[in-house]
Amino acid sequence: MGIETTDDERGLSEAGVPPVRRIVVDGETPPVRVAHRIGNGASPGLDEPFAVEQDFEAVWVEERMRIESLGVRFGQKEAVKDVSLQVNSGEVLALIGPSGCGKTTLLRSLNKLVDLTPTAIRSGRILLDDEDTAYMDDTLLRKKVGMLFQQPNPFPMTIFDNVAYGLRERGSKRPGKKALEPIVVDALERAGLWDEVSDNLNHPALSLSGGQQQRLCIARSLAVRPEVLLLDEPCSALDPISTAIIEDTIVNLKDEIAIVIVTHNLQQAERIADKVAFMYLGDLVEYGPATQVFNAPMAERTKDYVRGDFG
Ligand SMILES: Nc1ncnc2c1ncn2[C@@H]1O[C@H](COP(=O)(O)OP(=O)(O)OP(=O)(O)O)[C@@H](O)[C@H]1O
Ligand SMILES: [Mg+2]
Repeated sequence: MGIETTDDERGLSEAGVPPVRRIVVDGETPPVRVAHRIGNGASPGLDEPFAVEQDFEAVWVEERMRIESLGVRFGQKEAVKDVSLQVNSGEVLALIGPSGCGKTTLLRSLNKLVDLTPTAIRSGRILLDDEDTAYMDDTLLRKKVGMLFQQPNPFPMTIFDNVAYGLRERGSKRPGKKALEPIVVDALERAGLWDEVSDNLNHPALSLSGGQQQRLCIARSLAVRPEVLLLDEPCSALDPISTAIIEDTIVNLKDEIAIVIVTHNLQQAERIADKVAFMYLGDLVEYGPATQVFNAPMAERTKDYVRGDFG
């Protein structure tokens, strides 16, 4: 690495701006991905995200959920042990780890689905926008923190009615089809499905392919404007082309919605995740930027796992 100084840089340039030293790096500079701005609301005096990248657009990263010392046990079985981490909009967080390490349990804790299991005992705190979810209405929480499962589960009704479902359930006065239409179209567009179904909104959802059904389920979640989307192995039942479309959809959504995805597919995590949490036997072994966890993991166990030594 060396430092070059140009004529302009020896003094003030013609425009009168202070000189800038140009650093010449031997080899490739690793691209820095985004400016991290954690916290709610804008910082005084700053209207823009505060760093812009070489190859990527700047993304505004904001904390949505905070998990503090989460523990979950089912009877004597400790499924999640003292886990703390953050879930941010502007980022995709991938939960990885071998089978039975607590990924689904952690995910289901975020919208209190785990509380429906009679033997489950949960400790610690989970905050959504600084509000303790323990005191939030469960239905409201699950609208703000939507969830998708491994197998797409559209309802046995039309494509339109699937997407409109949550909106119709919301108030005492059921909105008419005309009022719902723009929201349904918008949700289908954001889920990357509109072009494929725009002529068939009245067709049964179950006539769609698996990949389309999964995107329909994403649209159904998006229609109620969630802040966080939880995805539990959403592509494991899909072919590579549908998987690629869903991955694109996820990356396109992350600016507005915080995304947490459980995946056994490490290449998928590398492709789409900004942050990675590696769990092992209920412990959070490592949590950090995806590039660091995959390329320079700190813990031996993470190293072994991402190298494919066990899983
Ligand atoms: N309802 C339940 N009752 C009892 N034990 C449970 C229950 N759900 C999960 N467990 C146990 O908690 C541990 C974590 O399970 P979990 O489903 O969270 O793992 P996972 O990491 O999602 O695994 P996989 O990758 O196979 O989906 C496992 O030992 C599992 O057997
Ligand atoms: Mg699981």
